[in-house]
Amino acid sequence: MSTWANLGLQDSASPLMEQLIFFHDHALLILVMITVLVGYLMFMLFFNSYINRFLLHGQLIEMIWTILPAIILLFIALPSLRLLYLLDEINEPSMTLKSIGHQWYWSYEYSDFNNIEFDSYMISTNELSTDGFRLLDVDNRVILPMNSQIRILVTAADVIHSWTIPALGVKVDGTPGRLNQTNFFINRPGLFYGQCSEMCGANHSFMPIVIESVPVNYFNKWISMMMNS
Ligand code: CUA
Repeated sequence: MSTWANLGLQDSASPLMEQLIFFHDHALLILVMITVLVGYLMFMLFFNSYINRFLLHGQLIEMIWTILPAIILLFIALPSLRLLYLLDEINEPSMTLKSIGHQWYWSYEYSDFNNIEFDSYMISTNELSTDGFRLLDVDNRVILPMNSQIRILVTAADVIHSWTIPALGVKVDGTPGRLNQTNFFINRPGLFYGQCSEMCGANHSFMPIVIESVPVNYFNKWISMMMNS
């Protein structure tokens, strides 16, 4: 999760988020180069007092400053397109999680495991333990196995919500009457926090998501316990 003075992206917990960070850095680098060049040129204009009585056209320089930005844009567009298609790829998921947005909490279904279902509410500030995260911790976490492809199906029961986990690079809208699909692969254990990111009403800020990523044998233990209870 994001903590104090973290203005950048969170550490990635999935290969796709890693790629998103690489793309962000790549695009930012190009942006900085353009800004510095244009800034320098504009600054130097203040000191330019040259006058050329015969300069009426410059077709070569116009060709250059038209084609060059187009080529630079390709260097952003092509990696962006690659990422876009990579994010949509489904790689034989080993399990499916269904998350349903409600005003204002998430509920989950483990469709492959006896359809275990539960609600996940934010823990309110007055009930929060001293080591809890305010407005971010929930009563029932989503337990998921690490190092496995997981498919998520997102939908909503009332208005549009959005299931968003920055560290995993996941952001899917939950729309009433639709099922949106995406997938991810968590490559380390830990807690990954997320929030709803569609303006879904008065308590929009208070429907966080907590994913607890555990080794597969731990997950098996938990899921069999859930199925037998
Ligand atoms: Cu649900 Cu915002």
